[in-house]
Amino acid sequence: MNYEEIAREKFEKLKTKKSVLILSVESSCDETSIALVENGRNVLSNVVSSQIEIHKLFGGVVPEVASRNHIKNIDGVLKEALKNAGKTLKDVDAVAVTYGAGLIGALLVGVNFAKTLAYALQVPLIAVSHVHGHIGANYISHKDLTPPFLCLMVSGGHTAIVKVEGYCKFQLVGSTVDDSVGECFDKVARVLGLSYPGGPNIDKLAKQGENVVKFNYKPPLRDSYNFSFSGLKTAVVNFVHNKEQKNEEFSKADVACTFQELVTDELVGKTMRACKELEEHKLVVAGGVGANSRLREKLQESCKQEGVEVFMPDLKFCTDNAAMIGSIAYYYVLSGTGLADLTLTAKPTVEI
Ligand code: KG4
Ligand code: ZN
Repeated sequence: MNYEEIAREKFEKLKTKKSVLILSVESSCDETSIALVENGRNVLSNVVSSQIEIHKLFGGVVPEVASRNHIKNIDGVLKEALKNAGKTLKDVDAVAVTYGAGLIGALLVGVNFAKTLAYALQVPLIAVSHVHGHIGANYISHKDLTPPFLCLMVSGGHTAIVKVEGYCKFQLVGSTVDDSVGECFDKVARVLGLSYPGGPNIDKLAKQGENVVKFNYKPPLRDSYNFSFSGLKTAVVNFVHNKEQKNEEFSKADVACTFQELVTDELVGKTMRACKELEEHKLVVAGGVGANSRLREKLQESCKQEGVEVFMPDLKFCTDNAAMIGSIAYYYVLSGTGLADLTLTAKPTVEI
């Protein structure tokens, strides 16, 4: 039998295997991460090697620099992940990898590494969507969580409301028509002179400010489930540039706070309306912006008022990590999807 035949046979057998150990690889942006996850919920190890300190120097992720650092780090990350889990490569039942969405050069490092491992170990290779991975983060943090539910997906690459009808059954309800919410946080942070990544720094600064700034902005797309953040981004950038050109004093903390209030109102307002109109009583948050303290606070409050049960990943599973990829990969296996062959390549964008 050739590799493809062996992998298919083993993939089928995994559906009924009692304990399935997946080694997962994530390299879509600036985190090199490898995890060992058992049965989608039990994280044995999750090593995340962040390149933030390197990209900070440039004010954002430089794709070529990210790829080179993935190459440099990935071997060490694998060794540490195996050591932390107390496992060897012989224990691995399948290798899962993020194939998209993300930076093509960065993704290719992970994809080629995973292909090589899967072939050398003669185990199935599972191609995972990064977006689905962010949803999977919740299965780690909430052991009893099961679909169906509504998901608010908020990351650097995606902003969407998604109906999760089954572990691998997704229906898009609304999405951004321009920038993602993470991009918007990062751009506003940059114009305020905060370092990369902007989101956490806006979050921190906003705590010292007040919601008192008047931007030239009206929330767009009121009756739609779609989002638009480019207008708000431009309004904040214009406000700051205007003040700077006129040499007028202004409070950066107030700008951060007002901006964060507007963004979170937009996200929470549309999500709660979707819950009501679509009669969804379970809400799940996914993606890096899901770490935002004000968003978490407002969602908790609104969901309590509306009788919606809300689930959010632990902070360490909100931003990019391989454990979330290993989690959803297990449900790909149970659903019989995602088996890839050695022609697998990286994709800069993926559909939800
Ligand atoms: O999900 P993620 O780690 O990567 C993508 O898949 O894009 O999301 C990264 C984004 C960045 O834009 C970052 O600034 C934002 O998540 N982020 C936050 C916070 N933590 C991370 N945004 C707002 N508040 C935070 N606390
Ligand atoms: Zn992500």
